[in-house]
Amino acid sequence: MNRNHLSFLIIISSLSILIKCSAGEQNEYEGKNKVLGKQLFSSNCETCHNLPANSPTGIAPSVLSIKQAYEATSLEEFQESLIQFLNSPSKETSKIKKAVDQYGLMPKMGFSESDLISISEFLYNSDLEHLNSSQESVMEFEQSDLEKGKSLALQTKSILGKNLMQAVKNHGADGAIEFCNEKAIVLTDSMGTKLHSSVKRVTDKPRNANNMANKNELEILKSFQLEQNKHGIIKTIEGKKIGYYKIETNDMCMKCHGDINTEIDSKTANRISELYPKDKATGYKPNELRGMWVVEIPSK
Ligand code: HEC
Ligand code: HEC
Repeated sequence: MNRNHLSFLIIISSLSILIKCSAGEQNEYEGKNKVLGKQLFSSNCETCHNLPANSPTGIAPSVLSIKQAYEATSLEEFQESLIQFLNSPSKETSKIKKAVDQYGLMPKMGFSESDLISISEFLYNSDLEHLNSSQESVMEFEQSDLEKGKSLALQTKSILGKNLMQAVKNHGADGAIEFCNEKAIVLTDSMGTKLHSSVKRVTDKPRNANNMANKNELEILKSFQLEQNKHGIIKTIEGKKIGYYKIETNDMCMKCHGDINTEIDSKTANRISELYPKDKATGYKPNELRGMWVVEIPSK
């Protein structure tokens, strides 16, 4: 074999090694991405959207029916329309208007773009009919403290959101006041315990005085008002890392936090003034800063 032959062989064999390696890497990446997508779906969406194999939650359509309604010819198309809706839910852009009539519009949650990309990829690529929510081994993913805290806040928000939607649906806004009165803090606390951290909501205009922001927190709220720290902020307070994330209003909140004369019906207004004579939490418009999540970041 002459030198030219030899170097040709070397080039070919290294090329094939290169191709194999990159293919291998891609598969592994896919696998990991799928697990991440499923985990994100479970913690952010499953509280309201059941997988087909489970009993319906009764407050939102199943993911299978959503996937069918969002029928797309490519992943990109599917992702684009899904993310567009989730970033600002509205009846006009809804692809299942029947669901909006039946359940009420999905509340705007403020998911991060990268989480939505993973979740929609998972929904698009999975055979949903044969999936269930059985707890698979949970993988640990590299997350910054800011992301960790945000994910804890969103999980709590989706549980509160689900319970609130259910209460309004079953008892009307005035009946749901009772739910918020008895359950909002309890639920938030129990989520904190479940997630091995502490989670609370604070505001500058509280309905329940226990939710009044302290001096530090008021300053952070002010920075949010000035459009700073859009994605939240981490501070170290007495040796603990604390994450702060905005809470904004959407249409669903107006029944209880909107204009007292035009948006809150009189039964609800009466209930509020009985339970919270010093209420400051009315007069909001949609998409306004209502308060923030304060989340202790677990150290592990
Ligand atoms: C607090 C409950 C709740 C949570 C949490 C929730 N949803 Fe929804 N979602 C709803 C309700 C109610 C509807 C039906 C009304 C509607 O379509 O707006 C809905 C509808 C949808 C639709 C169809 C929208 C349309 O009408 O075209 C999509 C897509 C969707 N959800 C995706 C998600 C994803 C992805 C997540 C998690 C990242 C999620 N949802 C989390 C309550 C929720
Ligand atoms: C059915 C009526 C009702 C609806 C709808 C409702 N809330 Fe509330 N909200 C309450 C009540 C009652 C409290 C007081 C809970 C307590 O005692 O801890 C409260 C408390 C809060 C607090 C804690 C701070 C405070 O003022 O005590 C925040 C933050 C908040 N609501 C945000 C929202 C947002 C955002 C929405 C819409 C996504 C919403 N609420 C929808 C009734 C409602």
